[in-house]
Amino acid sequence: MFSRRLFLAAAGSTLWVPASANAHSGHYHFTLGVASGSPRATSVVLWTRLAPDPLNGGGMPVGPVMVRYRVCLDEGMRRTVQEGVVMTSEAKAHSVHVTLNGLEPGREYWYQFYFGEDESPIGRTKTTDPKATSATFAIANCQAWETGHYAAYRDIAEWAPDCVIHLGDYIYEGGTSELGVRRRTNAGTQIEYEVVRKHNSDEITTLYDYRNRYALYRSDPHLQAAHAAAPWIVSMDDHEVDNNWAGGTPQDPDKQTALEFAVRKLAAFQAYYEHMPLEQPPTLNGLAGHLQMYGAYQFGPARLNLLDTRQYRSDQVCGQGFPADFPCEALENPALSMTGIAQEKWLLEQLKKSDAKYNVIAQQTWFAPYRYSENPASRTWNMDQWDGYPLQRQRLIDAMADDVSNPIVLSGDWHCASAMTVHKDPENAKSDRVAHNFAATSISSVCSWSPSVAQAQSANPHVSYVNGEQRGYLRCVADSQNWTSTYRTVANPSDSASKVGTDTEIRVRDI
Ligand SMILES: [Fe+2]
Repeated sequence: MFSRRLFLAAAGSTLWVPASANAHSGHYHFTLGVASGSPRATSVVLWTRLAPDPLNGGGMPVGPVMVRYRVCLDEGMRRTVQEGVVMTSEAKAHSVHVTLNGLEPGREYWYQFYFGEDESPIGRTKTTDPKATSATFAIANCQAWETGHYAAYRDIAEWAPDCVIHLGDYIYEGGTSELGVRRRTNAGTQIEYEVVRKHNSDEITTLYDYRNRYALYRSDPHLQAAHAAAPWIVSMDDHEVDNNWAGGTPQDPDKQTALEFAVRKLAAFQAYYEHMPLEQPPTLNGLAGHLQMYGAYQFGPARLNLLDTRQYRSDQVCGQGFPADFPCEALENPALSMTGIAQEKWLLEQLKKSDAKYNVIAQQTWFAPYRYSENPASRTWNMDQWDGYPLQRQRLIDAMADDVSNPIVLSGDWHCASAMTVHKDPENAKSDRVAHNFAATSISSVCSWSPSVAQAQSANPHVSYVNGEQRGYLRCVADSQNWTSTYRTVANPSDSASKVGTDTEIRVRDI
């Protein structure tokens, strides 16, 4: 227990915490940097974690400790507007989540944490402003540690957008690979990539493993810089738990029992929360873990609906393979869902009541259809994406077509950038245009199926751009005139100092 006297002293005006109460080792405690997230008009969540030995469980002794924070109006940390002390302990891996309230809309703030003699890096955050005339977002996803450095995050940090939206695959659960160049052949074309650094263990399944894996990824200076540069909103995809998991079903149910997977999923949720600026920790109901990730945010002219398409999803039908097994009658089941019933109802209500100029649905997988064959009889689809959930997709398209202003769907997952139009009949490019679907490539994960995507583009007349060959991210700028999607690409993913440039820019006016 922390002492009441210490707490009162800390909660007073001086916010003094004796160094001796906190100094547990000679090692620096803020090795994983700082972050902020879940931005609202008057609130934001600040994050850090005390981890003097980050790759071996964190290195903090058992017991509660107090961490001090300060929030200022200036980068030099002179004009303090809020300060306080929060308690953390081994129960949450000594992570710290502070919800700041009473902030001003659309304002930048700088923040810093203090523990013993140690000061954290200074972070910049920003509240949302529903009345702003423009908004900027970076869309990031898929950052496999081993196959590339994070030059893209250096570029995001330099840009310092209003918000970074992370669409998942923040970590990968797999084991280690050997360093060096790899070659793969896909659709008769050879692609090359390099394993530039190694994971820190075999495939992860326990809370201890997941914590160490997040600490490894978070040790990257460019990733830390991107977290310190802007607030993030985050929703996981599959690799934060297990490849292609859906609801309560793992990728390989023959290799892990339902109980083993439930325990693994809860460990993954807990570690994700411990490393993200999320508002709420996971909850446990019986053996069922739950983590709230979907939600709505208002950034000036853009209403952003962030979805969670893994936690409530029906299992993929017609095989896990790619392409899937056809014919596939199971696809005609209207209960097949990416989001679950409650989230779909919530989303439809959000779209219906919104008066925003741009209505953004940020979620994990490609929303528009994509055929991987010139032959229309050959239904070569990726069933892990919305092509595997066609009736729910049609319900959302119908809702977007019903007087929703400028629907824009953002995607990650496929390690391949694309710009696609969503039509009323998504399989018929001659039917009415309803929405745009912009997909970001990956921060560092390889797209070894990139030649298949490129070769099939002509069979997909609703698709104007694909690029699975390069790593990077998507910049989005929404203003009173246009929505602009800028595809940023990394020249050399094996070089953390690589140049990052613009591959293409797509500007859309009102649909
Ligand atoms: Fe990925």
